[in-house]
Amino acid sequence: MRVTNQYALGRWGTAWGFRIAAAVSILVLFYLALSSSLSKELLGTGHWTAPSPNDSNSKHTAEPVSSSLAEPTQVPQLDSPAAPTSIIEVEVEATSTAIIEQPKPTFIESTHVNKNLDLPALLAQLWKPKCHPLENPVFITNEGIWTKPLGNKVVVIDVDTRVSEDNENTLLNPNPFDFTKLGGRTGGHLNHYLYALIHGYDYRLIKAADYPDRHGTWVKVSILKEALKTHDYVVFLDADAVITHLELPVEWLMNLWNYKPHTLIAMAEDLDIPPDYDPQGKIILNTGFLIAQASERTNQMMDMWETCPEKIEGCNHWKHNWAHEQSAFSYYIRYNFTEPDEVRNIPCAHANGNEYYEEGKGACRGHFVSHNWQTKEKTVSILQRSVMRMLVDRLHSHFKDEQHTLFVNGSATPYPIQGLHI
Ligand SMILES: *[C@@H]1O[C@H](CO)[C@@H](O)[C@H](O)[C@H]1NC(C)=O
Ligand SMILES: *[C@@H]1O[C@H](CO)[C@@H](O)[C@H](O)[C@H]1NC(C)=O
Ligand SMILES: *[C@@H]1O[C@H](CO)[C@@H](O)[C@H](O)[C@H]1NC(C)=O
Repeated sequence: MRVTNQYALGRWGTAWGFRIAAAVSILVLFYLALSSSLSKELLGTGHWTAPSPNDSNSKHTAEPVSSSLAEPTQVPQLDSPAAPTSIIEVEVEATSTAIIEQPKPTFIESTHVNKNLDLPALLAQLWKPKCHPLENPVFITNEGIWTKPLGNKVVVIDVDTRVSEDNENTLLNPNPFDFTKLGGRTGGHLNHYLYALIHGYDYRLIKAADYPDRHGTWVKVSILKEALKTHDYVVFLDADAVITHLELPVEWLMNLWNYKPHTLIAMAEDLDIPPDYDPQGKIILNTGFLIAQASERTNQMMDMWETCPEKIEGCNHWKHNWAHEQSAFSYYIRYNFTEPDEVRNIPCAHANGNEYYEEGKGACRGHFVSHNWQTKEKTVSILQRSVMRMLVDRLHSHFKDEQHTLFVNGSATPYPIQGLHI
């Protein structure tokens, strides 16, 4: 990306004067062609024309130039060393004639400019003031469809077969936390709970029974299916997966990830390494973070997923073997739900991996959802960081608001101090 930009800048930086001069001519021609068809279709008169007063079609000649937009002199003034005024006049005549004779003017041919050469420079110049500054990390689009808070139509769920009141430093334990000894799983639960509270989503910590004849992670599928009966949207997170920016609503992330009104489920892609591809060559989706939406079709999908080991040939293998329900979904289930966007892939860099894996040099750094498969205790520091970032920010802005009271400037008051009002 960086290389491309530098290349483009270097190339367009040459012969700028000549290119701008030529760009002006092209711009004028574009503008004339555009306004001629516009004025003809929308206004019915050719305001912009400057034809011979004896033109046979007086409709196009009698009116003075009335719109400032229409005036050829209002063409954006590029800093050109040689504004080609003579070209403007010639083209005005030619175009006005063309309008009279042809209801739908064709492109204007001109021998005065080399179009192929100058179009790139013109376009670059047109967009230049709007180009996004490289140092500005914020880019705003208006393309999102999730524009209203979903509130408690969303439930954030944690599913665990092991949580117990007896475990110190866990949510169910009645004793206060010792924060310095907080475990990774509880760090995850707290992060999810806090996220739900911030945005008004429901939160549930669900203790599931062990699956009698399957690996424990299969409980996720059965519980997810149940949650979709009471809530329209279910955000499921493994205990080692945490939201890194608690201030970002899940609706915002759904916009970012192109979650559609008919999307059934969205999951993050796994790492781009050979074992993370299924036999058909598609990258595996990681079930450690997912957003499911209730619908009849989602229900069918959940049924098929849950009964996969019994009903789909070969799926039995994943009852006990890693990666269990995750493999079942990616190997089989998604191939039965192939309408566009029914199953949305979330980029691995956004919602899988973490900043610690491969010393932060890996492609998947869990930008929005940090999935700490090998660094499970790190959920606590990520929770700590996200809370502190918000807290110190709020404190700081509150201080700034009240600075006239909270700050006393004694730097110019000599000792012994007299009359410094605290
Ligand atoms: C336009 O018509 C006027 C009279 O109506 C005449 O004096 C003038 O010479 C004509 N101009 C051209 C360019 O034909
Ligand atoms: C699921 O898809 C497979 C092919 O990918 C097909 O053989 C099977 O019949 C489908 N199952 C259902 C229930 O649609
Ligand atoms: C404190 O007062 C000194 C002397 O009047 C002034 O130069 C300085 O800008 C003040 N500092 C602040 C932070 O207001």
